[in-house]
Amino acid sequence: MNTPVDDTAARAADIVRARRPDQYRAAIVLGSGLGGFSESVEDAVRIPYGELPGFPAAGVSGHAGALVCGRVGGLPVLVLAGRAHFYEHGDAAVMRPALEAVAALGVDTLILTNAAGSVRQKMPPGSLMAIADHINVSGLNPLIGEPSDRRFVNMVDAYDPALRARLAACAARLGVHLHLGVYAWFSGPSFETPAEIRMAQALGADTVGMSTVPEVILARFLGLRVAAISTITNLGAGMAPHGPSHGETKEVAGAAAGQLSALLAGFLADLAGDVP
Ligand code: HPA
Repeated sequence: MNTPVDDTAARAADIVRARRPDQYRAAIVLGSGLGGFSESVEDAVRIPYGELPGFPAAGVSGHAGALVCGRVGGLPVLVLAGRAHFYEHGDAAVMRPALEAVAALGVDTLILTNAAGSVRQKMPPGSLMAIADHINVSGLNPLIGEPSDRRFVNMVDAYDPALRARLAACAARLGVHLHLGVYAWFSGPSFETPAEIRMAQALGADTVGMSTVPEVILARFLGLRVAAISTITNLGAGMAPHGPSHGETKEVAGAAAGQLSALLAGFLADLAGDVP
């Protein structure tokens, strides 16, 4: 793991070790509407973010804000129930201490979930999409200000191809249709304009969203391998008779949560097979 700027993450990791020691392998960040997944964690200890130095005070409705430590499918996991977004306070590195803490606890695999708008008519609301790559439309970066040369992070295969293949195999086994595509990060919090959605289509994006990309950059900086899944909650602005809304995002994400939870549980059980 790369050396953090101060001991904030180390202190958070110490608290987790004291409350529930384990050989944690994977961390899962839960996006909008997926909070219920944390109830499937066995032997769970739930630590509110407020008790963990550097963890974000997640304030967006639909996000709970607790680290749930336990096992899923036999794999020791840390579930981040709630994330902070750039658009809340204007800090693209807001998730850095939390990700440093999970890396300090031995995690080497980060699984990110989010809600996203589809810019492809053929990928309708309710679909699931594994992210193959991203486009950082925002121009922001969580590593701005990082002094070391490690800031020049290689982003080729940032979304680990081997993990993606295993995820696709799990989805096929479970009969879950999993699309594959490119996620474009817009800063939010306003939704895109129809012209921006046409731009995203022209650029080669399949989805648009307001999260995940800064976490992927930080994860690669920290040496974590990444898998990411979007729940498609709506068609992009201008593609449907009505515009996107936060209410619809939460509602559709909640309705698709059962399928995504089953896929996550199957994937984690598969990863548990790697543990010697
Ligand atoms: N745009 C940006 N973020 C989103 C969307 C969208 O259409 N849907 C869910 N999150």
